[in-house]
Amino acid sequence: MKIKVLGSAAGGGFPQWNCNAPLSRAVRQGRPGFSARTQSSLAASADGARWVVINASPDIRAQIAATPELQPAADGPLRASPIKAVVLTNADVDHVAGLLSLRERQPFVLYASERVLGVLAENSIFQVLDPAVVERRRLPLVGVTALQGPDGPLGLEIETFAVPGKVALYLENKDAEGFGTAPGDTIGVAIRPTGTADKIRTAHYVPGCAAVDGALRARLDGSGCLLFDGTVFTDDEMRTTGVGEKSGARMGHLAISGPDGSLAALSGISARRRIYIHINNTNPILAPGSEAERTVRAAGWEIGVDGLELTI
Ligand code: MLT
Ligand code: MN
Repeated sequence: MKIKVLGSAAGGGFPQWNCNAPLSRAVRQGRPGFSARTQSSLAASADGARWVVINASPDIRAQIAATPELQPAADGPLRASPIKAVVLTNADVDHVAGLLSLRERQPFVLYASERVLGVLAENSIFQVLDPAVVERRRLPLVGVTALQGPDGPLGLEIETFAVPGKVALYLENKDAEGFGTAPGDTIGVAIRPTGTADKIRTAHYVPGCAAVDGALRARLDGSGCLLFDGTVFTDDEMRTTGVGEKSGARMGHLAISGPDGSLAALSGISARRRIYIHINNTNPILAPGSEAERTVRAAGWEIGVDGLELTI
């Protein structure tokens, strides 16, 4: 199985269009070691020819342009795409806005939880993906789904699981407990060649996660490749960098550091590779040589970057 990290940044990307904080400024100025990153997305393929995109980011057009595997073959038909399916892990803007760029009557199968399919159904702009052309299929909250393209099985299966998270920002109900978050608002996925029993040949992709409990830790233990929520390094970094008031927790993302952070919560699990993705533009791991970057690397984590290719 091949996996490509199409976008390793959180919502906003790196640099973010209106951000003039030191990290965004550094990457905009081309400071050595700083890499621009597009918004959160992954692609996977069992055969190198037919691909599933997991999360359709607002940057998908640029991501396809940077990824020859996702472009029509030079000798292919007049309208064609190797993208045969799209899976959504939540309804956040950084994960669904790219669907609007996938119009033009190109068949693929769209998979999401019932909650997320409901959000798409309620927003008429997503009708640019005519359900007669782009079939929408419901993912179970917990369970295995053999992925299909418009022409049949893709040779990949995903196992979906609910993770603690938060309803999309634009759907928050200020008066409801947990802002109205319900099961299915945030899921994680395990992806592997169909029928693979071996966990070491499975990748786990969790771009949004509010907490790691024992069940999630056990599920991720033994992974062939863990791609995990690296939104913020410290819970209050938006405030301390002066760009905003929201904590990581308020956004539905656990921090990397701290007693309840992902470094501590996932320490001691075995995973052949562990990679932080969905990295916010305030996160100091984006600065080469920073203490945060050294801490993460010393703990055996990699820092996701666009174009990273993994064979699992
Ligand atoms: C998130 O991951 O918290 C969201 O993508 C934030 C946003 O909507 O910008
Ligand atoms: Mn996001």
